[in-house]
Amino acid sequence: MTDLTFAPDQYTVHTLTRDGQTLTYRAFENIPYALHPDDAAFQRLSIYVPEAFYAGQSVHGYTLSTAPIFLPNTVGGYMPGPQEAPGVNFLGETNATFYALLHGYVVVSPGVRGRGMTNADGQNIGVAPAALCDLKAAVRFLRHNATTVPGDTEKIISNGTSAGGALSSLLASTGNHPDYAPYLAAMGAADERDDIFAASCYCPITNLDHADMAYEWEFHTLLEYHMVTFLPPRDGEKEPRKLNKDGLLTAHQQTLSAQLHDAFQPYLQSLPFWTGEPEAELRELIENTVLASAQKALDAGAPLADDPAVTAWLTVDGGQATRMDWDGYIRFRTRMKETPAFDALNGQSPENELFGTAHIPSQHFTAVYGDESRADAHIIRMMNPMTYHSDTHATLASHVRLRHGSMDRDTSLAISALLYLSFQKAGVDVNLEYPWGLPHAGDYDLDELFAWIDSLCA
Ligand code: DHB
Repeated sequence: MTDLTFAPDQYTVHTLTRDGQTLTYRAFENIPYALHPDDAAFQRLSIYVPEAFYAGQSVHGYTLSTAPIFLPNTVGGYMPGPQEAPGVNFLGETNATFYALLHGYVVVSPGVRGRGMTNADGQNIGVAPAALCDLKAAVRFLRHNATTVPGDTEKIISNGTSAGGALSSLLASTGNHPDYAPYLAAMGAADERDDIFAASCYCPITNLDHADMAYEWEFHTLLEYHMVTFLPPRDGEKEPRKLNKDGLLTAHQQTLSAQLHDAFQPYLQSLPFWTGEPEAELRELIENTVLASAQKALDAGAPLADDPAVTAWLTVDGGQATRMDWDGYIRFRTRMKETPAFDALNGQSPENELFGTAHIPSQHFTAVYGDESRADAHIIRMMNPMTYHSDTHATLASHVRLRHGSMDRDTSLAISALLYLSFQKAGVDVNLEYPWGLPHAGDYDLDELFAWIDSLCA
């Protein structure tokens, strides 16, 4: 059994060349971060460090003791997110960990539980809030060993995409909150703070209790859906496999779509962000963010004005993106998901599984289905970062970076916009962009991400 003490002398040194760049790093791998894990082999973390630090050198001005700690998670689809060494991600691309080390960060990669995981007794061990608690336990492990682990434990920067982006935003929103204390005590996490310095969140699939409404608010005019699912490449395959499913909302789904669309209005009105009419302000924020994205692409030389599919909804005048047509933009993107998009009619979505329990594989979590078959309201609230933004018992991250591709249809752009407004209202230094032309994806702008981190840490 372990006592959660970091062992600075248990490491290996590796050299890896990718994309023409060679990295030598020190690896402290497979360290348990909790005393009573559900899955002792999985709930571990690895720490990777530029080897140059140990020769007394600095990289980008960072040293062994001052380097920010980059904390990526590999969670997708609320499935388990295993540790990831420098090398490739699940798509087979050079991963952020490799580039972060080259840049002079310490990288900590935790294994994070997710849906579908069971223990020897057949209990579900990856249901909410397991994944978030694993990330918190990893943060607490680092703090517990603050004087011996490489890097600056007061400069922990979380990173994740999609479900992992949601977890990153949760980690930034729930620091030290007592709601999670019983879970962390039960798993034997170190008794330390678990707030973080900053978070990078790509296309967070979050605010799940209102995401169906937001989806219909955005896509209710489209009755056809075009679902695409990417599956990791199998052995011997290079590219991820793509599964397509096209269809038309049923009459029942069209009724539900209208109801969810209408239910979004009172939800918006319940939020404390607005100075005027909520829907108009939200739409203006989204439109301005899309226009800023188009302008950034134009300034970088993208020939948007020559693309009739784009100019059908975007007005480009003398190199300036000046106006957009909301309905045209939504038609351009198309609808991906059936109604409801998250709390599925068949109760089989990733999110339904997330809200299962040790003994129940999946549950509903929205008002559409009535109370009796719904997940515990407290757990639903615990998976929504916005729950904690006005809660004085939570320590929020100081800085948050939100990115949501301008072609993403996995969740409504309203979700990242509301999360942005919520962080902003809470006094967090937050920024939001919808990078041009990008679908549901992450880690596509590491140069910009690292420049942002450096601007906060240098
Ligand atoms: C992810 C994507 C989804 O569309 C979703 O509903 C949940 C998770 C993901 O990519 O992590």
